[in-house]
Amino acid sequence: MTWQEHYSGSLINAFGMPLRELVRGEGVHLYDDQGTQYLDLLAGIATASLGHAHPAYVAALADQAATLSHVSNFFTSPNQIALAEKLSGLLGHDAKVFLANSGTEANEAAFKITRRTGRTRVIAAENSFHGRTMGALAITYKAAYREPFEPLPGDVTFVPYGDAAALAEVVDDTVAAVVLEPMQGEAGVIVPPDGYLTAAREITSRHGALLWLDEVQTGIGRSGRWFDHQREGVVPDLVTVAKGLGNGFPIGACLATGATSDLIQPGMHGSTFGGNPLAARAALTVLGILEPLLPQINAVGDQLAEDLTGLPGVVAVHGRGLLRGVQLARMVAPAFAAAALEAGFIVNPARPDRIRLAPPLIITTDDLVPFVAAWPALYERALAA
Ligand SMILES: Cc1ncc(COP(=O)(O)O)c(C=O)c1O
Repeated sequence: MTWQEHYSGSLINAFGMPLRELVRGEGVHLYDDQGTQYLDLLAGIATASLGHAHPAYVAALADQAATLSHVSNFFTSPNQIALAEKLSGLLGHDAKVFLANSGTEANEAAFKITRRTGRTRVIAAENSFHGRTMGALAITYKAAYREPFEPLPGDVTFVPYGDAAALAEVVDDTVAAVVLEPMQGEAGVIVPPDGYLTAAREITSRHGALLWLDEVQTGIGRSGRWFDHQREGVVPDLVTVAKGLGNGFPIGACLATGATSDLIQPGMHGSTFGGNPLAARAALTVLGILEPLLPQINAVGDQLAEDLTGLPGVVAVHGRGLLRGVQLARMVAPAFAAAALEAGFIVNPARPDRIRLAPPLIITTDDLVPFVAAWPALYERALAA
């Protein structure tokens, strides 16, 4: 039997047939069951920030597994406390942390905190993506994701993303929270106008509503800053992160600033695995390795954008750091991604006319040279498909 037959015979068909069976990774490269090498320009969707089999990460997880993996939340561990302190330090404001296991769970924690304001109404953005659990789904825009599972938690209003005037129009004193991504990753890396988050902060503050920023995709160095919203210097009430925080080890976090962190009291929320010693060690290791890399992430991302600009079919390169959306002249992103895979490059057709690039954050400009060189031929193949 082929792996495809094993897969379809044993896994619920939530994702369609996978493109390849991958067996190994090293640095910025992945290898399939045939031994074919791929340059990883997606990092498991903005997640494998240290790339694959990073020696210091491997050593840290092995050491932690040999020391202490799990203790339950009847107890804590030095790693858990260190991670919470580290995350709030990186945020740069007085914050406390709830540790979860994924982006959607980080958002569930935030959603539950918003309910504790005594208000229920949440304003979210068109084209948003916040996850697949029922709460996170309720604030996710795409009808095809939401409709099969309705009724979802209610009282959610969607407004056009990036439009501060539209936000000002709907936010009033009944609103519990406004939830926004600083850039919309799943939508294909949509960048709002400068000042949008600042305006959202002013509007929410005026009405006593929480500003909740979902940095699951943009956070933890991906945009060239620890948190992308730090670009605008706003102080959010809630920030959620996951993905790159664990480099593939499942972990998410909900950070609550100021008095917002007191809205959850003992017994109101929980998670068996959340912040266990192994997950916390993974995250601490990631943060330690990324710290000196932030300037490089910006430089490599800017160089990539510059190198792609002007190539055949490239209308614009959106995004910041190493989260980039390449706007194509034609609706050929799926054919481009297929041609790229055949040629040994993993990219994501986030929209029919947009390629998303979110490589490991350790990638260098030299690593990217083969992809930039291959672009014209890949685009030609996409047009011919
Ligand atoms: C902005 C954002 N929020 C939440 C999620 C959900 O994260 P997870 O898949 O870890 O549940 C994602 C995943 O793509 C995301 O991009």
